[in-house]
Amino acid sequence: MKAEDGCRLRSTRRGLLKGAAAWGALGVAGPLAKPALAQAAPLRVGLMLPYTGTYAKLGQFCDQGFRLFVEMNGGKLGGREISFVQVDDESKPETATDNMNRLVSRDKVDVVVGTVHSGVAMAMVKVARDTKTLLLIPNAGANDATGPLCAPNIFRTSFSNWQVNFPMGKVIADAGHKKVVTITWRYTAGQEMMAAFKEGFAQAGGTVVEELALPFPEVEFQALLTRIASIKPDAVHAFFAGGGAVKFVRDYAAAGLKGQIPLYGPGFLTDGTLKAQGEAAEGIRTTLHYADDLDNPANKTFLAAFAKKTSQVGDIYAVQGYDAAALLAVGLGAVGGDFSQRDGLVKAMGAARLDSPRGPVTFNKAHNPIQNIYLRDVRNGINAYVAVAQANVDDPARGCRIAT
Ligand code: PHB
Repeated sequence: MKAEDGCRLRSTRRGLLKGAAAWGALGVAGPLAKPALAQAAPLRVGLMLPYTGTYAKLGQFCDQGFRLFVEMNGGKLGGREISFVQVDDESKPETATDNMNRLVSRDKVDVVVGTVHSGVAMAMVKVARDTKTLLLIPNAGANDATGPLCAPNIFRTSFSNWQVNFPMGKVIADAGHKKVVTITWRYTAGQEMMAAFKEGFAQAGGTVVEELALPFPEVEFQALLTRIASIKPDAVHAFFAGGGAVKFVRDYAAAGLKGQIPLYGPGFLTDGTLKAQGEAAEGIRTTLHYADDLDNPANKTFLAAFAKKTSQVGDIYAVQGYDAAALLAVGLGAVGGDFSQRDGLVKAMGAARLDSPRGPVTFNKAHNPIQNIYLRDVRNGINAYVAVAQANVDDPARGCRIAT
């Protein structure tokens, strides 16, 4: 599925004609005129996100967050007008390479922003490396994207799967729990998140006694919940997101486990889902690089603007999309909107310090954010800030050979 922002393209074309006529009238010769015209064209941004399926709302919020930042800057980033091409990746790794190739080769986008699902993102990373396309990842946590597959043209404005789960090991151990069962979808994100939690929990003296999983995006949780009830661990650590997280949290409560075996997880378990989860989510503690009530001016501005644009409450996915646009604005601003100055653009992006709604963000050599990971508690329908679980968490970027 693909849609083009025709309106903006049409009006820009008119602008280009006007510009060309002006150059002609001034008698400016071809070679000089070309770069100026190229610069006047809008920068083409490909949004490759899930707009359908269990991650649909996540993709839509990344999209709306990105567009919000652009709109707040008069339709421009770093002085350069922006146009969009949009593709629904459906969270399907099997069609991801073709979708990404089409954006790059047929639609000739300058930048790709995507995606949510780690498996899809890995295919995008490979195409981006081969074609040197600038790729901004606004969610997917696949460790390898900023590990062995790191590249100068690949940035992530979200998190690594390791980053949001490792700190939970200490949190759960400090709560006095020694034996934990993990449960997730069996794909890159779920497996990497549970491995990172296990690493942090083992370091804090805990033991993962059983690792449960089901295929993505299945939601038949009953047999696994029965298994948890029979094991009776001290706590459960779970990764699900979007529609799957809504059903898991509701099923956990309906199975009578809520109040019996404390449920924890990375914050995706309860982010953007609380309205649908209702009472079943109250009291769930999670770790994430955001909390709804973070008391900083950037978060207040973002939440108010997002609510005004969409009549919805902003969440981490919208923040990550918003920050992807903010990061691109830093790069484009540093080169006066001239995308052909790629070295200068990438250098400025790598050195960016974002005043994000999540708090301050900088980037490591692999272009993964360095950020606080917060402990949150679902209270009265929001993911309320409890504490900084770990400050300035930097992903180890294992295997990244980027030169700094
Ligand atoms: C992922 O596949 O990397 C992923 C998907 C949804 C989330 C978080 C991570 O909420």
